[in-house]
Amino acid sequence: MTYLSKKIALACILLLGLTHSWAQAPAFPYSIQKEALADSAMVVTAHPLATQVGLETLRKGGNAVDAAVAVQFALAVVYPQAGNIGGGGFLVYRSKEGQTAVLDYREKAPAAATEKMYLDSTGNVLTNKSRFGMLAAGVPGTVDGMWEAHKKFGRLPWGDLVTPAIELAEKGFQITEREAESLNGERFNFIRQNTFTPAFVKMEMWQAGDWLIQKELAQTLARIAGFGREGFYGSGTAKLIVEEMGKNGGLITYQDLQNYRSVWRTPLEFDHKDLHIITMPPPSSGGILLQQMLGMTSNFPLKEYGMHSTAAVHLMAEVERRAYADRAMHIGDPDFWKVPMKRLTDPAYLKSRMADFQADKATPSKKVAAGDIKESEETTHYSIVDAAGNAVAVTTTLNDSYGSRTVVAGAGFILNNEMDDFSAKPGAPNLYGAIGGAANAIAPEKRPLSSMTPVIATKGGKIWLVLGSPGGTTIPNTVFQVLVNLTEFGRSLPEAVQAKRFHHQWQPDKIQIEEGALSETVIEQLTGMGHTVEPRGPMGRVEAIVRLPNGRWQGVADGRGDDSAAGY
Ligand code: DON
Repeated sequence: MTYLSKKIALACILLLGLTHSWAQAPAFPYSIQKEALADSAMVVTAHPLATQVGLETLRKGGNAVDAAVAVQFALAVVYPQAGNIGGGGFLVYRSKEGQTAVLDYREKAPAAATEKMYLDSTGNVLTNKSRFGMLAAGVPGTVDGMWEAHKKFGRLPWGDLVTPAIELAEKGFQITEREAESLNGERFNFIRQNTFTPAFVKMEMWQAGDWLIQKELAQTLARIAGFGREGFYGSGTAKLIVEEMGKNGGLITYQDLQNYRSVWRTPLEFDHKDLHIITMPPPSSGGILLQQMLGMTSNFPLKEYGMHSTAAVHLMAEVERRAYADRAMHIGDPDFWKVPMKRLTDPAYLKSRMADFQADKATPSKKVAAGDIKESEETTHYSIVDAAGNAVAVTTTLNDSYGSRTVVAGAGFILNNEMDDFSAKPGAPNLYGAIGGAANAIAPEKRPLSSMTPVIATKGGKIWLVLGSPGGTTIPNTVFQVLVNLTEFGRSLPEAVQAKRFHHQWQPDKIQIEEGALSETVIEQLTGMGHTVEPRGPMGRVEAIVRLPNGRWQGVADGRGDDSAAGY
């Protein structure tokens, strides 16, 4: 047998899944657990079936990275709004011995992308082009990311990690009420954006308990199981992607796919009080923003103010405003733009940033420019700790819910619309209302600026917290608030995660609050100080793990979705 035919045979065996324990798909309704306690290991993801896949991988002797790879592929099946193989993400790792690593598997602009590709002839932004259809897609990074992570840290055979996902796609799984609503809500977009009927559209409306079967996705996953990276960036999958681009005006070429490489970057690490935080540097803005916001609050007695008090919300919103102003100006793909990281996170700079802070008055955003630096709604997060004490925090995305809504015909997966995270034109808001300029302008093979903030925090040299969230530009604020709820306001992890949140991102100049986040009195007082306070929908979906004082792990899954935690 040649190497190739052996690989094909392996892929077929994996696809049939005849001998594997995953053949028995879990019965519906599977249980959704918001909190779990365990002695050894913990997995928290956006979907109970993906959580179960992660946990099984750990029980079979896989480590946290093996579990992360298995979860990523499982989410691509059971959580199609954000779980993906057609998107990208960031992985933060810390070994039990303290080795840290971060992997950037963010999508890249195709080589044929141009700065003004989403502008019409008069210079107006054509937002639909960066949000829907093939032209919205960046070159996917997920499969290469998983391949690299596995190559460096994985222990179990690669194929074994993809198998659970193949089986979930091949045999199907029963969807929840929330998933049914979400698919029904996108029905029109799926029909409009595809020339065939993808698995996500049914004759009738979806209902809780219906089976979602994704045969073509199962075949793509089988190619990935059999051929690894090449199963996506070469082989039949690449051919299907390139064909789809040709038919529907996309830019991604075979060469773009072949050239895609994820990057091990230097982790962004900093100390905050008794914590050591390990998180993502650019092309995510998340780590820098988190460091800035924690730094800017560190000279104020937040603890005394109390959670959701006028003084605390005012201070935190002002800090958020200033950090996001810097984001718009200074942060972009570090391979293309010199990000002044040192200066942006320098304690003296952060102190000077708060010089015009007034305790009783909002600072209008138009008066808060980005700092003068002279130095040359869908994503998903999962948190894992294994029995040895290694940890992984991953945030991964298609950008919008179901990305570009285009499914690669014959391959069954959704392509991202990550190109919308670029600044299509200076000052023009993207999907999340974020504005930017040259730092985040479109260029061939550049990565769009992200807000994703996967975090591992240690205390006394031991892993204490694994944390992250989706939510576009709200992500750094969600992570910031959960951390502050824990460390300053003395909340337990379940309280810190389920607490209502608020969001300020400089522009637009307002504090958006989840329903019930703030009392009428606090809203009145903030308004009196010059803030505009507006209601918004749910903000973020946090998946977090904390080590309790007794040494046990506590996993907490956000109550805002079907998210689920499990451990052993
Ligand atoms: O990378 C980013 O910041 C965005 N593409 C993330 C999108 C997101 O979180 C959507 N979730 N609701």
